[in-house]
Amino acid sequence: MQIAAKISEVPNFGKKVVSVSGKEILLVNIKGSVFAVENECPHQGSPLGAAIVKDGHLSCPRHGYRFNLTDGKCAEHPECVLATYPVRLEGDDILVDLG
Ligand code: FES
Repeated sequence: MQIAAKISEVPNFGKKVVSVSGKEILLVNIKGSVFAVENECPHQGSPLGAAIVKDGHLSCPRHGYRFNLTDGKCAEHPECVLATYPVRLEGDDILVDLG
């Protein structure tokens, strides 16, 4: 696992785009649970930094596809799956596993 950011850099209900090993990752904090997903929509590649977070889902700013933050699935468009990465919190550090 690699350090992606400090938890203090990703406020509650906030997002942060970070670069880990040259890959852009979007971190999302929901009430202290941090999710890490690829910062590129699987539909047509939009960056997701401006996505809306609601009910455990991320809505792409371009066409509004909604992705489950836990497994990356899109119920309306099952052919589009957003890559998600395991996250562990260690003290103030957010660690992600890019596999
Ligand atoms: S590019 Fe994300 S929904 Fe189309």
